[in-house]
Amino acid sequence: MPAPGRFYGVGVGPGDPELLTIRAMRLLEKVGVVCYTQLDNGAPSYALGVVRELLSGGVTTLPVSIPADDSPVDPATWREAAARIGALLREGHDVAFITEGDPMLYSEFPHLIEHIGAEAIDGLTVEVVPGVPSVMAAAASSGVPLVSQGQRLAILPAVYGIDDLREAITNYDTIVLMEIDHNLMRALANLESLGLAGHAIYVRQASTASERVIHDISKLTAEDLDYFSLLIIKR
Ligand SMILES: C[S@@+](CC[C@H](N)C(=O)[O-])C[C@H]1O[C@@H](n2cnc3c(N)ncnc32)[C@H](O)[C@@H]1O
Repeated sequence: MPAPGRFYGVGVGPGDPELLTIRAMRLLEKVGVVCYTQLDNGAPSYALGVVRELLSGGVTTLPVSIPADDSPVDPATWREAAARIGALLREGHDVAFITEGDPMLYSEFPHLIEHIGAEAIDGLTVEVVPGVPSVMAAAASSGVPLVSQGQRLAILPAVYGIDDLREAITNYDTIVLMEIDHNLMRALANLESLGLAGHAIYVRQASTASERVIHDISKLTAEDLDYFSLLIIKR
């Protein structure tokens, strides 16, 4: 039996390939298999788009299809992906699962790790290569420091409702609302009713050519909905 390959969780950063870490770049230039999630509406993978130029011609790409709507991913998806990845690892191939931003912040990587663990591969090494999280790229693009000494920061998915937002703004100096996409209009209404509309900044596709930073969120409309966007709210 050959030694198993290594399994990497690689953060590719917020979108600009120049924000890849040197470690991620070196790894992706030589890895044989690159795995990523692919929305079932056919939209190209954001993470793959960031690193495509780096990948060697002989690389095997392994998309894992997930729903484009808000519906939860069927656990069978992760089981099947883990079985395919597990087979490649057992044959000695190194596999990199790439994710936008950082693999340890709202990514699918933990689901895969859990299921690859169930594959019980003897001697398997798992390594995480951190990436620049979108939260930090958005702070850089907007010129808004998230927190300074002694202040408190909360990062929340926008699916939380107005009560959570009220509680968060009471307890934290800055809140970052991620995954706003379909929740944008509701999040804006909540901010309005909490008197926070003038305290929020919208950042879409930070660090990319499509980046948009809007300091006056009253100008936002449903057309601005974009999965790769977030709101920074300062108390
Ligand atoms: C599944 S989470 C992935 C987070 C990622 N692991 C990270 O470290 O930033 C997806 C959410 O990240 C945020 N996001 C990712 N890339 C972004 C970007 N370039 N600009 C603004 N928000 C981004 C959006 O809120 C999006 O809905």
